[in-house]
Amino acid sequence: MSTASERDPHFPALHLRPPTGWVNDPNGLVLHDGKYHVFFQYNPHSARHADMHWGHFASPDLLHWELLPIALAPTEGGEDAEGVWSGNAVSRDGTLTAFYSAKRPGRWYQPIASATSTDGVHFTKHEGLLIPEPAPGLRMFRDPYVWRDQSDGRWRMLVGAALEDGRGAAVHYASAGPDDLTDWTYQGVFFAHAPAPLPGGANTEEGWECAQYAPFGGGRGAVLVSAWDPETGAQCTAAWPGRETPDGGFTSDTPQRLDHGPDFYAPALLPVPDGRLLMWAWIWEARDEPYVGAPGEWTDQAGWAGMLSLPRELTLGDDGTLRQRPARELDKLRTGDRCLHAHGQGPAGLGTVSPAADLEVRLAGDAGLRLVTDAQGHEYLSLHRDPATGDVVVDRSRASLDARAKRGAWRLPAGEGEAQLRVLLDHSVAEVFTAEGQALTLRFYPVGRAAWRLETTGQGSYAVAAWDLTVPAGAERR
Ligand code: FRU
Repeated sequence: MSTASERDPHFPALHLRPPTGWVNDPNGLVLHDGKYHVFFQYNPHSARHADMHWGHFASPDLLHWELLPIALAPTEGGEDAEGVWSGNAVSRDGTLTAFYSAKRPGRWYQPIASATSTDGVHFTKHEGLLIPEPAPGLRMFRDPYVWRDQSDGRWRMLVGAALEDGRGAAVHYASAGPDDLTDWTYQGVFFAHAPAPLPGGANTEEGWECAQYAPFGGGRGAVLVSAWDPETGAQCTAAWPGRETPDGGFTSDTPQRLDHGPDFYAPALLPVPDGRLLMWAWIWEARDEPYVGAPGEWTDQAGWAGMLSLPRELTLGDDGTLRQRPARELDKLRTGDRCLHAHGQGPAGLGTVSPAADLEVRLAGDAGLRLVTDAQGHEYLSLHRDPATGDVVVDRSRASLDARAKRGAWRLPAGEGEAQLRVLLDHSVAEVFTAEGQALTLRFYPVGRAAWRLETTGQGSYAVAAWDLTVPAGAERR
């Protein structure tokens, strides 16, 4: 039997998603019973956003992933009749508790509901709603994020919101005690900010989706939010690094862009026992949809839309900048020795890589790297250093010979001197990281059908090493 990536050259080999259907936000990232669980917004019936369920993958090591049965489905006539929307999950005393947003026709807000499981596979929905109504003064209300406060052991919950005055906000609740996950008391606004566009141009007036809290110890932390503007399509995943305040709230002055590319949204966090904070996000399609959430013909024909990012480690640098790197477990996906290793200066052909590959790249001056995917050299994804600013420009203007693919170029701040990059490629997605911890994610749709080859451009010097990546034996997704 062929794999899904063999049948459809744009289907990822390593990025999580089921063989068919629509995928958006990662939900309920949790370590339960020795396994990492990754739930996600999933429509099993079509490649469009509708009728949302929670799909489910689990893994003992972040490498071998098993696709499990759907964890949560809408209940006909119930509070979530129109969709089990985003949320998260925690594991306590052998029970996995999922918190989600219950979508029902005719209700502008999505109250918080919950479900529990002991085997981590089969769930029982909690009777009734956990938080039936938002507090007064809100214009949007959904996407619970529950975490344990290290200072007093109490469980806390953020919910994404918009205030009536137009500010995007994360409101918060506290549970009755360290053993309680059902009795939640409203604590007010955790953090809100004036309705200025976020970096990337997204207007916060729509509200903040999927608010998450990243605690970094000593009262320092970051609020992560996603916002998008349905009118313009502008979107942003922003992080507000700052401090917890004595009244239990949070303060921050300046948002940072979490990902500098066009296709990364709704990141979700998983604190793991070794102290790391892991993060997954939704990587959407950039095929022919007029705007996100309304796929066109090409996406429909493919029968699938969206995938989850690879896991990243999120840290706070001494300078207050949030940094990301691919989770170190992913190094084990490298197949044996480097398949390519080259350095020099000026334009050169370097050799071929497989459509799932891991590159380490150094670019100085105006050096660039092209991933050429057709025989004639007309179709290529391009990365080049801008010597004036030090930015790395990631350009997909020519990355697909199919005119329906979205185009454009994005800048990744990479500092002075040479740019040091890690590039993870997987059939139709590139995740690019700088040594300074900045990231850029984008989709591209090669139709050229040639073996993928790397070429350098410009006159600057370069060094490139590449490894082919393979799904570990026994973990192939078909
Ligand atoms: C973010 C989001 C969430 C919502 C979910 C619905 O992408 O809009 O706010 O809960 O997706 O699928």
